[in-house]
Amino acid sequence: MTQALGIDIGGTGIKGAVVDVKSGELVIERIKIATPPGGEPDAIVETVIQLVERLGGIDKKAAVGVCFPAAVVDGVTLSAANVSDKWIGLEAERLFEKALKRDIHFINDADAAGVAEQRYGAARKVKGLAILTTLGTGIGTALIHRGHLVPNAELGHLEIDGVDWETRAAYSAMERENLSWEVWAGRLQKYYERLEAYLYPELFIVGGGVSKHAEKFLPLMSLRTPIVPAVLRNNAGILGAAALASDM
Ligand code: BGC
Repeated sequence: MTQALGIDIGGTGIKGAVVDVKSGELVIERIKIATPPGGEPDAIVETVIQLVERLGGIDKKAAVGVCFPAAVVDGVTLSAANVSDKWIGLEAERLFEKALKRDIHFINDADAAGVAEQRYGAARKVKGLAILTTLGTGIGTALIHRGHLVPNAELGHLEIDGVDWETRAAYSAMERENLSWEVWAGRLQKYYERLEAYLYPELFIVGGGVSKHAEKFLPLMSLRTPIVPAVLRNNAGILGAAALASDM
């Protein structure tokens, strides 16, 4: 079956759509519901059930992929930067399988976005290392080497000047502190320079909602590595989660 359901749980919104995993296109319009305040497991599960109902339920044969803003190993969430601490050590995949009464595939949100950009978007032609970064509530990162995902890179939490840099350079920091594009780009410059110095990538891809304003901040940075906006914008998580689920 080439259709699969992708659900992307984020710090501010939970989005879902049915996608065609062959073409990488959404086959129905995306639905978004606000993430419940506090990001507690039960409330998020409840919102995902509502989302699935609004999407018209799930075809029995369709694979279901869910992505989430935490490190995920064997279906267990091992971190919780912008959601409730109750996620740490939680059997998240099992929790959603019980609630949705079917198998699902559960992964990190940036990893899902990275896989989508590799299959359908900006990283398609990269031969070496592509690093996808999502600038949103947090900073998500995905490492794609020669077409393969190295999962759970949590490089949004790189410490610079003794600070978890996500708290200074995520898009939420720009909004919270009312930063100009110039000041924010200065913080991003420091961040991408550090990634360059450690990993020597072939390409940086910048995702997250703010990537639609890429012309406002990418030209303000000066890096050795080419840096481009994500092609799939805010649908990358949905697409990657669905694509990986249908591989299983
Ligand atoms: C989390 C990552 C996530 C990123 C983007 C970070 O705070 O630690 O797991 O990918 O936010 O949502």
